[in-house]
Amino acid sequence: MKNFNYSIPTKIFFGRDQINVLGDQIKKYGSKVLLVYGGGSIKKSGLYEKVVDIFNKNNIIFWELPGVEPNPRITSVRKGAEICKQNHIDIILAVGGGSSIDCSKVIGAAACYDGEPWDLVIDPRKIKKVLPIASILTLAATGSEMDAGAVITNLETNQKLGTGHKDMAPKFSILDPTNTFTVPKSQTAAGTADIMSHIFEVYFNNTKGVYLQDRMAEALLKTCINYGSKAMENPEDYEARSNLMWASSLAINGLLTYGKETKWSVHPMEHELSAFYDITHGVGLAILTPHWMKYVLNDHTLNKFVEYGVNVWNIDENLDKYEIAHKSIEETKKFFISLGIPSTLREVGIEEESLEKMANQSTVRGSIGNFLPLDSKDILNIYKAAL
Ligand code: NZQ
Ligand code: ZN
Repeated sequence: MKNFNYSIPTKIFFGRDQINVLGDQIKKYGSKVLLVYGGGSIKKSGLYEKVVDIFNKNNIIFWELPGVEPNPRITSVRKGAEICKQNHIDIILAVGGGSSIDCSKVIGAAACYDGEPWDLVIDPRKIKKVLPIASILTLAATGSEMDAGAVITNLETNQKLGTGHKDMAPKFSILDPTNTFTVPKSQTAAGTADIMSHIFEVYFNNTKGVYLQDRMAEALLKTCINYGSKAMENPEDYEARSNLMWASSLAINGLLTYGKETKWSVHPMEHELSAFYDITHGVGLAILTPHWMKYVLNDHTLNKFVEYGVNVWNIDENLDKYEIAHKSIEETKKFFISLGIPSTLREVGIEEESLEKMANQSTVRGSIGNFLPLDSKDILNIYKAAL
């Protein structure tokens, strides 16, 4: 296990009716709020009204940035930063999924920066200060509610890039699983795949002596497998929704990575798909993951797949090691298909013509992954296999 400093600063209010803390929590940071949300799901569910009511009762003045896109765009960040600058906003409250939260984080940084907001995405070192961020999560997926990263899309340049700063971590996040009852099946499935992918990115890793982190990762994977299906069958299953919601936060808040040297593989490959084709992040991950697994399976990585197959999928440990590994990959693919997620790139409208361009762009920041480092040729092979 490597040395690490433990710090997860986001305060979590988890459970039914935790929205009741909103007024008091916001007032710790001021009385002028920018409310950021997506395409209207929070209006349909009634959550918007509840938030506004709490603001009014607590004399909190607020401005709004509606319409944040899935795969949030730099144009929305620019709009939000302008509102913050003009009105001296004290805190940004995102109500929604990862897109609204990510957009808020970069708005918070851009509001404290004199130049062009895209600079802060290309080069996170330029982020010096961030307005306080808070969130009310409505979709279990990205973990943005408890991490310090954000992913923003620039459609003019076909780029989707991650950025981050420690102060981008929300000051507090309200996680009421009932707010996810209205999530459509397709997003429940994509969210589950996303949570699992965050775990895979750090579980398939070469750091030695991380028994505890690996067992925690397996517990989280089993939670997703068990409750992902249940939430699909019954969207109002509180037990399923609460387990998925907490898994979403724990998968990526640092808990699984402390003590490991990590460098992600499938996410950088997927970000190109959503940058070029604006597809759902979790869907892209679910399509690519089994092909990535097959590609990186070799004599050096075999034991990790055996661990995965035996501990997560309960495959007989007495079988031949390669048989266990292949079965574990097959189970992974079957699970994503059982959630109704497409399994090929063509099904989501991606054709061969852009594969090379995307493969080249995914490595502009260098090779990806450290379980088995991949260059643009490897990535092209994986894209082709997933076609
Ligand atoms: O926009 P609205 O109307 O709210 O509808 C959204 C959107 O259409 C809908 N939705 C959300 N909650 C709902 C709901 N519909 C009904 N009831 C609810 N309770 O779901 C759709 C997708 O929402 P979005 O916020 O885009 O989804 P998600 O949470 O999956 O976020 C995806 C974005 O996060 C980035 C992804 O790349 C993508 O841009 N990621 C952020 C990460 C981070 N900050 O750490 C890590 C991830 O790996 C990921 O890259
Ligand atoms: Zn993700």
